[in-house]
Amino acid sequence: MSVQKTPKNHLISQLFWQMEIGADEAITENPMNFDTILGVREYLALIPKQDNKNLESDHKKQKGNSEPATLAEPQNIALSHLPHPGKNISSQESSQLLQAVNSLDQLKKALQEFEGCSLKNTASQLVFSDGNPNAKIMIIGEAPGRDEDRMGIPFVGQTGQLLDKMLKSIGIDRQQTYITNFIPWRPPGNRTPTQEEISLLMPFVQKHIQLISPEIIVALGGVSAKALLDTQISILKLRGKFENKDLGLKSPTSIFSTLHPSYLLRAPAQKKLAFADLVTLKREMMVRSL
Ligand code: URA
Repeated sequence: MSVQKTPKNHLISQLFWQMEIGADEAITENPMNFDTILGVREYLALIPKQDNKNLESDHKKQKGNSEPATLAEPQNIALSHLPHPGKNISSQESSQLLQAVNSLDQLKKALQEFEGCSLKNTASQLVFSDGNPNAKIMIIGEAPGRDEDRMGIPFVGQTGQLLDKMLKSIGIDRQQTYITNFIPWRPPGNRTPTQEEISLLMPFVQKHIQLISPEIIVALGGVSAKALLDTQISILKLRGKFENKDLGLKSPTSIFSTLHPSYLLRAPAQKKLAFADLVTLKREMMVRSL
């Protein structure tokens, strides 16, 4: 078997990530020769494959772990149980705006023109996307934070820096992905988006996915994962698994859920779970030659 050489900077970033997650156990029985450089393929082969069991039965149970909230600042209680008087009008407006959308520029313009979501009034600007529109991996976070709101680019603050490190640990950078958020405007005080806001923005997210047509969607955190998978199951149960979902593309889209980096900043002990997820993701990318 030929051993692929992994670029030195990838190995260094893997090491940094392992230091961060407190890796303190050897994963092979025998020590490696210092000169032996393991390729990613061989490295991943040493790690037991996760059991990606079907989530159907979990969906039916709909109960479980306490949910990690993703955003660092204090959160208001979601008002999802309250009626939203403008909701029907807003849905009509969004379907009208979306009818003519055939490109990312048009989608951005449609969002800029959409008046149905009040988050627009408190945010500084629309935060649309970053990365490569031709990427096979589409990352969907929750909503912009303060830094993203200022810069107009998703995941540029501390959370974004951690996301970059996470990607680097499996040998990719943001230019090999396409990055967006479920909600394109910063919620005041970084509160969790309400169910109404999520429903209002869903048609735009769906159109966004259709325009990118990714091989894999990485749903970062509970808000994105639950909305895309249409479930109430906790992210701690959803994470690390692929699920196929019909999102209006030719074939069902593969959605991979994992923990949100802002949660990991507040709960660093959970980074080991995120790393296990990243390994699962990388394995699948290699199987699909992505
Ligand atoms: N958290 C998110 O979900 N998205 C961002 O862009 C920044 C922080």
